[in-house]
Amino acid sequence: MVHRPALLGVADRVVRLAEPETAAVPAARPAVQGSGTRSAEVVPPARAEALEQPAAGGVLARVRAMSGPRRGRLGLALLLGSLALGSAVGLMATSGWLISRASQQPPVLYLMVAVTATRAFGIGRAVFRYAERLVSHDAVLRMLADTRVAVFRRLERLAPAGLRLTRRGDLLSRLVADVDALQDYWLRWLLPAGAAVVVSAASVGFTAWLLPEAGAVLAAGLLAAGAGVPLVTGAVARRAEHRLAPARGMLATRVADLLTGTAELTVAGALPARIAQARQADGALTRIASRAATATALGDGLTALVSGLTVTAAALVGAQAVAAGRLDGVAMAVVVLTPLAAFEAVLGLPLAVQYRQRVRRSAERVYEVLDAPEPVKEPERPRQAPASPFPVALKGLAARYAGQDRHALSGLDLALEEGRRVAVVGPSGSGKTTLAQVLLRFLDADAGSYTLAGVDAYALHGDEVRKLVGLCAQDAHLFDSSLRENLLLARKDATEDELRAALGRARLLDWADSLPDGLDTLVGEHGALLSGGQRQRLALARALLADFPVLVLDEPAEHLDLPTADALTADLLAATEGRTTLLITHRLAGLEAVDEVIVLDQGRVVQRGAYTELLAADGPLREMAARETASESLVAAT
Ligand SMILES: Nc1ncnc2c1ncn2[C@@H]1O[C@H](COP(=O)(O)OP(=O)(O)OP(=O)(O)O)[C@@H](O)[C@H]1O
Ligand SMILES: [Mg+2]
Repeated sequence: MVHRPALLGVADRVVRLAEPETAAVPAARPAVQGSGTRSAEVVPPARAEALEQPAAGGVLARVRAMSGPRRGRLGLALLLGSLALGSAVGLMATSGWLISRASQQPPVLYLMVAVTATRAFGIGRAVFRYAERLVSHDAVLRMLADTRVAVFRRLERLAPAGLRLTRRGDLLSRLVADVDALQDYWLRWLLPAGAAVVVSAASVGFTAWLLPEAGAVLAAGLLAAGAGVPLVTGAVARRAEHRLAPARGMLATRVADLLTGTAELTVAGALPARIAQARQADGALTRIASRAATATALGDGLTALVSGLTVTAAALVGAQAVAAGRLDGVAMAVVVLTPLAAFEAVLGLPLAVQYRQRVRRSAERVYEVLDAPEPVKEPERPRQAPASPFPVALKGLAARYAGQDRHALSGLDLALEEGRRVAVVGPSGSGKTTLAQVLLRFLDADAGSYTLAGVDAYALHGDEVRKLVGLCAQDAHLFDSSLRENLLLARKDATEDELRAALGRARLLDWADSLPDGLDTLVGEHGALLSGGQRQRLALARALLADFPVLVLDEPAEHLDLPTADALTADLLAATEGRTTLLITHRLAGLEAVDEVIVLDQGRVVQRGAYTELLAADGPLREMAARETASESLVAAT
């Protein structure tokens, strides 16, 4: 609970990092991006396969397959765990024998072996347990790290076009809590269950060797406690465990919504209702947890009962055997005390079964992310990217979002020679951002061609395309850090002079210099401590610093008041002079500076040419210009 706000911050960063504007920050990419060949660098192929490909035998088989090369370590952990449990049983058995034998006051020499064994078992129990924890956690935590990387990579690939239906809080819950839950499959289910089987079998064998009927009693008791009780508690808890992970996701979603939308909700007076919803989600989670706890408590009680009955039964058959002269009186203590210790092995099994159920649901949620179809296909064998992308050419290009019948863009031709600047204008929803998505290979085209220096862009790896074509997104993200850090994302080795030059070109330098902390001034979460115009300018400075051969600017002046918007447009047109630029904008002011203006409507080009020519001709651009002038005079009049 306490960490939730902090986690939300992480989620935000995680999801934001995955948004299209990452393309404007190539320096941040190597750490978080890459699939295909690159993923092999971090996740060895065997494991990457286990993580990414459906395996036969259900979701838990896939979780098991994740162990891959760490199987040896897990085997060692199982051995150590069995030795630790075995030492506990051995300690009880030898100390029982020692006490009984000592009561007969034999020469102390007769006791030396048992004394030493007691000591060895006592020390061994702690040492083996420690070593087991070390080995198992090391192996499992490494596996988790791989899984988290794989989930993150997949999210990153899905994010630009594919995440719109999944909620941020739920994604966070999948990335953090559900991946974490996978560790329980080994640490709380497989290893304890494995050690329980080994130690139970050994204890039964040993007891049966002393007295066969005692062995039979112990076998029955262990079977009842180790298999029967977990079956009962598992049935009680199944529904609760199945609902646990989604309920956790729901709570995370509600809290994330509440925190990010507090201002809007307060204004709309909807805050109390939303808080009540969050409380409801919390209540649901608490009820599920308490039902699961009930099952655990039931398991503990039943196991204690079975254990008591077994020890009593062992004592009875032991006493009969001693009376019949088939068992040494001294060994009687061993026959009674061994079962008492052996139950330690099965004590945790009801809970282990619950963990298994919990892991199954979490694993399903993790694999839902890992198996989600990629919105963009990557070539099997990517071609080498050309050194220079010119000319960038689109011919008859059409693109459509998954699940939509209508093309968001169709029949588009575009040629960007080196140094050429093209503006794309058009009403909202006309396909401008879609064009940017296609150019950055965040969205596949379904007709037409897209080439860079004559090379098919779909034969290149998307990351390679994004090194050549960069984006300053419609709502570029600023990280909760300093001005300097936000700029350095674009190029981490940029010098102070280069940073200042980029700020200068975005007309932000004077302002930055006037701040008491200069470039070390913090910008706040999402740049909350800056004005809208300053935020856009900082994003622009970052895109300029990244120095992409082709820069796509998506509505850099959006949300700004008219004078600020026009000033920013004028500044960025000055800053991109001589650079290949595609400027997407809804304002026409200043566009006489670009080489070509393309007017889009409903995904189609309805007019194109030099700005002044278009303005002189009868057509959509002139209508847009007239509307713009009218709204300006309206603003001026009020
Ligand atoms: N991820 C998406 N999934 C499905 N449809 C989408 C998606 N993004 C955009 N669209 C649809 O595609 C069309 C073009 O959208 P696009 O974002 O390219 O418009 P735009 O010209 O950038 O608009 P604006 O000026 O408002 O930014 C719209 O009809 C929109 O509803
Ligand atoms: Mg747009």
